[in-house]
Amino acid sequence: MNPQSFSFHRIALGDVGSTNDEARQRLEMLGDGPYVVTGARQLSGRGRRGRAWVSPEGNVYASFALRPDAPLSRFPELSFVAALAVSDAAIEVVPDGTRVRCKWPNDVLVDGAKVTGILLETAATPQGPAVIVGIGVNVISKPADTPYPATALAEYDAAIRADTVFEALSRALARRISQWEAGGFPAVRADWMARADALNEQVIARLSDREVRGRFVDLDEDGALLLETGAGDMVRIAAGDIFRPTKED
Ligand code: BTN
Repeated sequence: MNPQSFSFHRIALGDVGSTNDEARQRLEMLGDGPYVVTGARQLSGRGRRGRAWVSPEGNVYASFALRPDAPLSRFPELSFVAALAVSDAAIEVVPDGTRVRCKWPNDVLVDGAKVTGILLETAATPQGPAVIVGIGVNVISKPADTPYPATALAEYDAAIRADTVFEALSRALARRISQWEAGGFPAVRADWMARADALNEQVIARLSDREVRGRFVDLDEDGALLLETGAGDMVRIAAGDIFRPTKED
């Protein structure tokens, strides 16, 4: 991997609505970045698909704002870059790094349970398009009653604190973004695949309007999921969520 070539200037806030909104306001007013806005708590944290992200004190809530050295059309690749960075930081905490997996499209799991959420948004700055990489990491607590299993890093190191995880994440993200800017998506894709959850297994992809069942065999050049649905039949999924089938499925 390329050496780290930059670092994020941190703007540490207390209670915020959403760190993504705070980062957007600064980007639109001040431009450029790279900086990162953190909140001790979020009162209206946002998740993917309009869901709420419950955000009590003690976890990481960080929105990294930057104008990447790549065209806007390639910004979605950053969700894989961000997932890799979170997995790098988690591997520093979890005793056996092979327990940390990346789940398509941008989740990170430890022992099969979700430890992070990533919400990528674009913003307009006076200098041109920018991206906000919003990352929440469960450090001392995890949400209850989720439709998926959830975990927190303190289950692997009781002494771990949000600031330690944030520092590791911030360094890892700068390194991974440098790798992506210098080498493009192929190197990121290869590293992500080496940590991919459910690779070569049967999965169900839930899309907005339908479900597709198949074996997760590869990622396309742009990060789309490639499912083998029958002998030699390949289906490309650009957006959705994947699940392992349960007995009821
Ligand atoms: C998901 O649904 O998995 C994505 C959750 C993203 C949560 C993070 S916490 C920091 C940033 N601010 C937000 O309001 N959301 C993201």
